[in-house]
This record gives sequence, C-alpha cells and structure tokens, in this order.
Amino acid sequence: MKKKLLGYVLAAGQGTRFKSSKIKILHPLLGQPMVKYVIDTVQDLYPESIHVVVGYQKEIVMKTLPSPGIEFIIQQEQLGTAHAVMAAEKILEKKKDCDLLVINGDLPLIRKEDIAPIMEFHQKENNALTFLAAHMDNPYGFGRIIDEGKGKYRVVEENEATSNQKKIKETNAGIYVFQVEALLEALPKVSNKNSKGEYYITDLVEILSSMGKKTRPYKSGFSENFVGVNDRFEMAQAVKSLRLRKIRKLCLEGVTIVDPSSSWIEQEVEVGRDTVIHPSAVLEGKTSIGKECSIGPFVHVRGSQIGDEVKIMTSSVIEESRLENEVQVGPFSHLRPGTLLQAGARVGNYVELKNTRLGRRSKALHLSYLGDSEIGEEVNVGAGTITCNYDGVKKYKTVIEDGAFIGSGTQLVAPLKVGKGAYIGAGSTITKNVSPDSLAVARSRQVEKSGWARRKKKKA
Ligand code: UD1
Ligand code: CA
Repeated sequence: MKKKLLGYVLAAGQGTRFKSSKIKILHPLLGQPMVKYVIDTVQDLYPESIHVVVGYQKEIVMKTLPSPGIEFIIQQEQLGTAHAVMAAEKILEKKKDCDLLVINGDLPLIRKEDIAPIMEFHQKENNALTFLAAHMDNPYGFGRIIDEGKGKYRVVEENEATSNQKKIKETNAGIYVFQVEALLEALPKVSNKNSKGEYYITDLVEILSSMGKKTRPYKSGFSENFVGVNDRFEMAQAVKSLRLRKIRKLCLEGVTIVDPSSSWIEQEVEVGRDTVIHPSAVLEGKTSIGKECSIGPFVHVRGSQIGDEVKIMTSSVIEESRLENEVQVGPFSHLRPGTLLQAGARVGNYVELKNTRLGRRSKALHLSYLGDSEIGEEVNVGAGTITCNYDGVKKYKTVIEDGAFIGSGTQLVAPLKVGKGAYIGAGSTITKNVSPDSLAVARSRQVEKSGWARRKKKKA
C-alpha cells in the first residue's frame, strides 16, 4: 500500500574523522555542501515534507541550508543515529500512517534512481522496515548485515563485529524506510549498551524483527553511490565522481568540453549550447554562461553571469561580474566583483576592472585599471589608463560619457567626469571635469636642449 512519504536526513553529527573545525556535512563538494546533494535527491522523490536533523554547529547548518521546503529538527546532544530519529518523535506521532525515509547526510552520490526501487519494494512487500543492503568488496567500517534465517535480520557495527562477521560483505548503506507506526513502537527499545555508548539506528533492524514486524534488506550489488564520506580522502573520491557526472551532463546538453580531465565545473554552473570550454578552465559557484561562447584555457570564472557569444581568452579571472552578449575578454584580464561589460564591449591584456560598468562597444584593450567607474558607449580607453579612485581613505567615482577617447597613459583622478565625445591627450593627469566635445591635455610641455647629450658624453 502506498503511503505518504516523509524525508529525514541525518546531519547532526560532527564527523570526527574529518579532523575539521567545520561540521563534515557542510564541507563543499564541487562547490556545494555535502548534505545539499542528499537533500536534493530526497526532494526529487517528492516527499510530503523533508526534515533535516541538526545538532553540531546547528546555527551555521541552518543558515547555510535555508532552502524552502526543509524543516529542521534539533538533536541537542549527538548520541547516535537512532537518537537523531528520537528527536522527531513528537512530529512522527502525528504521522503514524506515513512512511519515513531516513538517510545519512554523508551520501552525496546517492540519486533518486538508487532510492526509488527501495521505496517500491518497501511498499510492495508492506514492510515495517526496508534498508538498503549494499555489497562492498571492502566492507570495513560499514555495519554488516546478518541473516538469521526465517526472515530475521540484524546489523552489527564494525566495532562490535566478530572476526567472522567482519568477513560479511553485505553492508548497511545508511538508507532506511520505516512505517512510522512501527518505528515509534520500536524506538524506545533501542539501548546505548555498546562500545560507543550510542543509540544505533541499526539496532532497529533486530528490534523490529524480534517484534515480528516485517524487516527486509533491499539487496543491491556494489555501487559507488552507496559509499559514504567519512574522511577527506573519501570526499576526494566522491568529488571525482560528481565532477565527471557534471561534465557528462553538460556534454549531453550540447556543451563541448575539450579536456574533461582538466576542467573544473562546479555543481551550480550552467552552460548554454555550443559553448566550448578549453582545457584547465575553472568555473565556480553560481555561474551561468550563455550559448556559443568560448572559454579559453586557464580561465577562472566565479559567481558570474555571462551572455551569448562571449569570448574569454587565456588566463583571465572573472569574479562576481556580468558580461552581456558578444563581449570579449582577455588574455590575462581581471574582472573583479561588480564589473558589468555591456554588449560588444572588449577588455584586453592586463586590464583590471572593479565595480565598473563598461558600456556597449567600448574598449579597454591594454594595461589599465578601471575602478568605481561608469563608462558609456563606444568609449576608447587607451593603453595604460588608470583611474585613481582611492585617496587612502575613501573611494571616488569616475564617469566617462559616451564616445569619449582617453589617450594612452592617462591618469583620471576621481571624483571626475569626462564629458560626451571629449578627448584626453596621452600622458595626461586629469584632475578636473572635462566638458563634452573638448580636448584636455594635462602634462608638462616638452623641452628640447639641442646638443645636450653630445656634450654630456664628451665630459665623461
Ligand atoms: C552508519 C551506520 C552503519 C552504516 C554506515 C553507512 C549507524 C550506527 N551505523 O555508520 O551501519 O554501514 O552508516 O555509511 O548508524 N548523525 C546524527 N546524529 C548523531 C550521529 C550521527 O545526525 O548523533 C548523522 C551524521 O551526521 C551522519 C549520519 O548520521 O550524516 C551517519 O553517521 P556516521 O557517524 O557517519 O555513521 P557511520 O559510522 O558511517
Ligand atoms: Ca558515515
């Protein structure tokens, strides 16, 4: 009989094997907290509600995972995985006719396709408890499943297992489906008389079995998706798989990834069709890239929105910026947070922008720093132009209006406005506003002393 489903993610434990000052389940894998993968997978099963059990560093966990649709449950002390379920007893009392999917928060590779058959089996067999039994060639660290015959099962944890039991390769993966009513009857019977002094969720297998409630493993072969992440090496292994999964997904959506072995593309990154990503590109955070773009080698983009037909050349760094269609950047450009490049704008070698808008079809192609600036359309910013936006205390704004031409080697001392269509002579240090359509030159006049060099050489 199909019952309503509640999701229950265990995320209260510290994760001591991580040897970290940060709770294990918040460590990022491909830019996304470990537990977020588990929550997303549970969400894919459309449960009536999703509960996440938090305890260790709960404030940070709750702040990091604010997604609507999650209800947090607090496990004040972390006294074991069954204790984490006990924290929800009150809520479960009102949900006796539901099924509860309990899942460890450290299974980032788990997908909907892994869980759906367990749910189906659970409902078809009308089990009180179904738990995933995964075959592990190296079962070290996992709870071992013991078949006592006559439909009775037991799970023995690594610490408690005899040397013979340790040879068992059928392991408990940390995914359980309970009938809530049966669970509530069994929970008070879990004790903490074991080597760790913890309440083990795995004891519920034996308890429910001995209560005559139908308890069954859902047997599956090996899948890396069932391997939990307990230490940082296991995290690195999981990241390898997630990385390849992401790259495969993008390739199938029509993105060319020239060298999958060197591209780092984080979970939340979106890329449009016919975009080509060249070797060693790093795309991080909430980044979106449009259609038909070219992302050059060693380009690093973080938290940025990039339009269509944008070309980013070698070794450019783009952080929290927005690039409209047909923009060109690089090689070796640095776009710092708050940069907006409007359609058709071009930024070239060794140019740094920060908190600056560069208008449509404007260019800054060589060796410049443009900070806190508003630059209009079709402006030419000559080589070596620098906005002097900081006096050591405050930052000031530079405005360059449409069609202005800034000669090479110019310093624009902010606050400053260069009017529409104005020209600045090369090598100028501009300290006052420049009116539209005028020419401003601010440099000392050239002096020539004829024969001076010859005389100097003779003296030497
Ligand atoms: C657990 C199982 C083990 C199984 C393995 C699969 C138990 C007792 N053992 O072991 O049989 O083979 O998972 O990967 O469950 N947590 C809480 N509150 C607590 C303690 C833990 O919420 O008080 C959470 C953790 O944050 C974690 C999950 O429960 O997400 C599992 O805990 P962990 O310590 O990783 O269990 P394992 O030792 O891996
Ligand atoms: Ca674990």
